Amino acid sequence: MKQSFFIKTYGCQMNVYDSEKIVELLTNGGYRQSSNLEESDIAIFNTCHIREKAAEKLFSDLGRISKYKENKIKSGSSMRIIVTGCVAQAEGDEIKKRNKSVDLIFGPQNYQNIVDALKVKKKKYVYADFLCEEKFESLPIKNSREISRLVTIQEGCDKFCSFCVVPYTRGAEFSRPVEGIFFEVKKLVEMGAKEVILLGQNVSSYNSNIFEDGKEVSVKLSKLCNLISSISGLERIRYLTSHPNDIKNDLINEHHNNKKLMPFLHLPIQSGSDKILKKMNRNHLRDDYIKLVKKIKSKINNMAFSSDFIVGYPGETENDFDQTIDLIEQVGFASSYSFKYSPRAGTQSSLKHLDMVNEDVSDLRLKKIQRLLNKQQEEFNLNFINKNEEVLFTNKGKKNNQFVGRTKYLQPVHVLSDVNIIGKKLIVNLENLTSFSFHGRIIS
Ligand code: SAH
Ligand code: SF4
Ligand code: F3S
Repeated sequence: MKQSFFIKTYGCQMNVYDSEKIVELLTNGGYRQSSNLEESDIAIFNTCHIREKAAEKLFSDLGRISKYKENKIKSGSSMRIIVTGCVAQAEGDEIKKRNKSVDLIFGPQNYQNIVDALKVKKKKYVYADFLCEEKFESLPIKNSREISRLVTIQEGCDKFCSFCVVPYTRGAEFSRPVEGIFFEVKKLVEMGAKEVILLGQNVSSYNSNIFEDGKEVSVKLSKLCNLISSISGLERIRYLTSHPNDIKNDLINEHHNNKKLMPFLHLPIQSGSDKILKKMNRNHLRDDYIKLVKKIKSKINNMAFSSDFIVGYPGETENDFDQTIDLIEQVGFASSYSFKYSPRAGTQSSLKHLDMVNEDVSDLRLKKIQRLLNKQQEEFNLNFINKNEEVLFTNKGKKNNQFVGRTKYLQPVHVLSDVNIIGKKLIVNLENLTSFSFHGRIIS
């Protein structure tokens, strides 16, 4: 009987992509995936280190699972516990010190070694090298008929925002070669995908090259999208995440010319205060952001924007926070994420003895910003009521004959249909809105 493994994924979509790859590696290596953590022979935790809460979640899960492991050992069977992802990279050995039941630890660029490490008993139990090239050359493609698929095109970050662990957990910026990405997208489309989401910590700084007519030509994100859009059967291209400093005219023009590239831009700014942006090492001013958004909107009038915000960054005064609120009001976001600042060991902002914002003040600011962002999202959505929009259907809904898809702007839409419409792009009349999701009627 094959040994079984269970995998739990925390954090961002890059981890979701990596988990898919781990599943495929283990399945090809003779293991079988189980949906039951307690009964599995191998428990894998693919972790996130971005905020303290995310990292601590691992240790509370480990506390629980190590009890199952003890019971299994007592009853004569066994269990191996593996920690992968950004906590594995950041804390390595420390994880085992905090919880002895952990057997193996793999940073995000070491998954190609998992099967070997499981099969051959070695002394080494922490794998935390930066092996980006090797990683992407050796990860298999999951055989699945899903309509929307993730494709990591770049990993790591060179920006070193003062609060952020990513440059330490994912290493230096690495752009995957164009050929590998193209091949992967083509394969996914052959399996049935209609949409790809190109992933990276900063996809807008993607930089690689190809040979065209015997000459080396540079490939930025705009050209990569252009090349991929030639794959017939692929209908939608999205990318995530961008940095305001890297959005140049070539990408804006590509949005204008390439109908497969969706008019939705996740463009985090973090704060609307120049003083805080400087402290965060974001390397741009609030006005640069506002001008950029205006410029994009003037060229692509239906472009929708989303952002990430951090409240309570050390030194953030009421006036700084008001500047963030003002920026949100000026830009008008379709949706956004907001977080309370979390000091992370090793980052610039945690090293200095900074002027910490009182927790209660941060909580109030978070509530206020979330109220405003939710209101903007609702206003954005209400503009679509009774409109006909193109929806790509990706899944079955919870109810009988119900299907779920998304508009170009990522809004979820539920419809009823007697025939299976998964994979179809249809025009839907958006009849009503429940919280952030539409109910619609198929027009054609
Ligand atoms: N590369 C992206 C974001 C990656 S992390 C960018 O440049 O914006 C995702 C989001 O987590 C960030 O945009 C930020 O809003 C939030 N985040 C990162 N570190 C954080 C911290 N220490 N405390 C609170 N939020 C944080
Ligand atoms: Fe982190 Fe900044 Fe890099 Fe985004 S750009 S991943 S916030 S360091
Ligand atoms: Fe978390 Fe690592 Fe992603 S820290 S947000 S899983 S890059």
